[in-house]
Amino acid sequence: MTATAPARPETTSLATVGLTKRFGGVTAVDGATVSFHHGKVNALIGPNGSGKTTFFNCVTGMIRPDEGTVTYRDADITGKAPHRIARAGVGRSFQLCRVFPRMTVMENMLVAVRSTSLRRQLSSARNAEELDRARGLLARVGIEHLEHSLARDISYGQQKLLELAGVLMADPETIMLDEPAGGVNPALIDRIATLVRSLNAEGKTFIVVEHNMELVMGLSDHVVVFDRGRPICEGTPSVVQSDPRVLEAYLGI
Ligand SMILES: Nc1ncnc2c1ncn2[C@@H]1O[C@H](COP(=O)(O)OP(=O)(O)O)[C@@H](O)[C@H]1O
Ligand SMILES: [Mg+2]
Repeated sequence: MTATAPARPETTSLATVGLTKRFGGVTAVDGATVSFHHGKVNALIGPNGSGKTTFFNCVTGMIRPDEGTVTYRDADITGKAPHRIARAGVGRSFQLCRVFPRMTVMENMLVAVRSTSLRRQLSSARNAEELDRARGLLARVGIEHLEHSLARDISYGQQKLLELAGVLMADPETIMLDEPAGGVNPALIDRIATLVRSLNAEGKTFIVVEHNMELVMGLSDHVVVFDRGRPICEGTPSVVQSDPRVLEAYLGI
């Protein structure tokens, strides 16, 4: 007879209590109390307009929540500036990919970690070390051959890989991805999935918003389902998939 190991309590990564954000009459995030698991691939799913991106913006300091608290590894980060949250170990990508179109792929990698002018960066003593690191990460996401291309000349999927490589430049402990597979061709989606798996195996925590259910269910350890700005269900992919509230939220029945 095989003994079942007792379930180990999860260590909390990012968590919110009563998080609320209103835009005029619209309550985009509505008293959301959520916690994600440290060292795991977490997914945040839900219908369009259910508040996922606004939730990301609130927890990463892009916008200030109206109510509620955000903690990261038990430290209160509510309302802190984005660079302070980044320094605490949380990196993120954007739903609509954010790269500088007129800069080269390599320049995008270097500005991802520096707020100083590009001229200063290029003359910096740390230049060689950073270039090496950037090249290594571009190779890891599979676009090292595009180093000298302008970001606007590479495909949208490649731009998303560039954005992910840029996020990795700061070596964040936790990586938040907003629709990494949105608008990306199937071959590159596979590459993104492989990258998430291997980075997670190295210890990185992920919190991923994604509409591609096959990807979400294949990749995640823990899924939180949002509807109208708050979680309605959470658990393993199989638990969430068989919950009638989830179907109801997606189909509006
Ligand atoms: N800057 C904004 N101003 C006004 N309304 C917004 C703004 N951002 C989001 N919303 C509204 O908040 C709700 C949640 O949007 P969003 O967070 O983008 O959802 P999701 O990412 O789940 O699709 C939607 O009704 C959206 O129209
Ligand atoms: Mg969104």
